[in-house]
Amino acid sequence: MSNTQDYVQWFRGAAPYIKAHRRKTFVIMITDEVIYSDRFIGLVHDIALLNHLGIKLVILHGSRSSIDSHLADNKLDSRFHRNIRITDTAALPLVIHAINEVKTYFESQLSTGLPNTPMSGSELSLVSGNFVTGMPLGVIDGVDMQHSGKVRAIKHEAINDLLALNHVVLLSNLGYSRTGEVFNLPAEELAGEVARALKADKLIFVQPGIADGDAQASTLSTRQCESMLEDSATPGELTSLLQQAIQAIQAQVKRVHFIDPRVDGGLLLELFTRDGYGIMVTNLFYEGSRAASIDDVGGILSLIEPLQDSGILVARSREQVELEISHFQVIEKDGMIIACIACIQDSKDDTAEIACLAVHESYQGSGLGNQLLQFAEDRAIKSGISRLYTLTTRTSHWFIEHGFTESGDFDLPEVKRATFNPERGSKILLKSI
Ligand SMILES: CC(C)(COP(=O)(O)OP(=O)(O)OC[C@H]1O[C@@H](n2cnc3c(N)ncnc32)[C@H](O)[C@@H]1OP(=O)(O)O)[C@@H](O)C(=O)NCCC(=O)NCCS
Repeated sequence: MSNTQDYVQWFRGAAPYIKAHRRKTFVIMITDEVIYSDRFIGLVHDIALLNHLGIKLVILHGSRSSIDSHLADNKLDSRFHRNIRITDTAALPLVIHAINEVKTYFESQLSTGLPNTPMSGSELSLVSGNFVTGMPLGVIDGVDMQHSGKVRAIKHEAINDLLALNHVVLLSNLGYSRTGEVFNLPAEELAGEVARALKADKLIFVQPGIADGDAQASTLSTRQCESMLEDSATPGELTSLLQQAIQAIQAQVKRVHFIDPRVDGGLLLELFTRDGYGIMVTNLFYEGSRAASIDDVGGILSLIEPLQDSGILVARSREQVELEISHFQVIEKDGMIIACIACIQDSKDDTAEIACLAVHESYQGSGLGNQLLQFAEDRAIKSGISRLYTLTTRTSHWFIEHGFTESGDFDLPEVKRATFNPERGSKILLKSI
């Protein structure tokens, strides 16, 4: 394929995401290490692009390494308790200074008009202010955390008003108390609090840690994050990130993403390509996706019967579901099967059928269908399948959006031909995997 064609394909591929992200609210946390790195100008460009695509942006900058070096330069020790810096009275002015320095640099970079980049001439309007009310962390395990604080409130209405006017809101990890004190807040925690207060569509961490060097995009469920937290091998510095991800998802933030900042364009790849690039945490598999067992037959039938009655799914008897149960994957919530898929392999072929994909009405549109399909694809690839097909009467567009193409001349595997009912007029869709 020529470069021009690649470009056209890429642009078309990005179109659904451009549409989907428009007017959505993203909270993006960027550490100061990233802000002072060579890659930052690329990120500035990408932030400007997101703003121009109509995405509402709240950006938080971290300041940890700058604070470390300011304290070290002034021969003050950095003391931590439970991974949180203890900001004492001597350290506070240096902490404020370091934070303001990062903020000023950040603002200057976002004000450059981006010469010599594809976004040249674009102007961003950055706004910051007293949007974060802080309060003292107090004494933890007998240790006085002094000027280290936590979030008391976020002025989310004021932030939303600014976002509606297309301003980018920039927040530093400082909070002001009602008594006029200043508190040093953990930046990841603040990012999580802001995303929750705004009920943001995405909370994105552009920082080293979870997605390091992960060239393959992947998805984590909140349950997997919990297991990582329980695992003693998980480094302490990831604890807060994982906790924020879990809490954000539980508070209806739709997605949390971790992006390796060393990858140029990692943010764009994650947001605008089907396969993504970073690590995404979702509420999918909330109660766990798992291989179905014979005990699930009743639950699967309850889910698919209404769809069979309305002709959307082909009729399957209880006996047939029982026979095929090892091919099913289900998602269960509160003891109910809320989604299922079957990936039925023909033993003589490297082709498998995607069948019986169904998501309970109350859970449609939250990505469960997409997730189950991805799961089925992964499993199929592992068992040597190189091609998937599906038969559908009313869902062809959904499958096409997931990489399938219509194929009028595909020869159904023998085993399928035996049960195929041409009167349904199903379309046959194929996908190479
Ligand atoms: C098709 C189905 C499995 C998708 O599951 P889901 O969890 O809702 O899907 P996702 O959340 O991953 O994707 C939702 C998107 O798919 C779209 N979509 C849903 N059904 C669709 C259809 N029949 N045709 C085209 N797009 C469809 C939604 O509008 C939504 O798009 P949006 O985000 O732009 O609003 C689910 O809608 C379902 O169970 N439908 C009834 C059964 C069925 O048709 N099964 C397939 C049999 S072959």
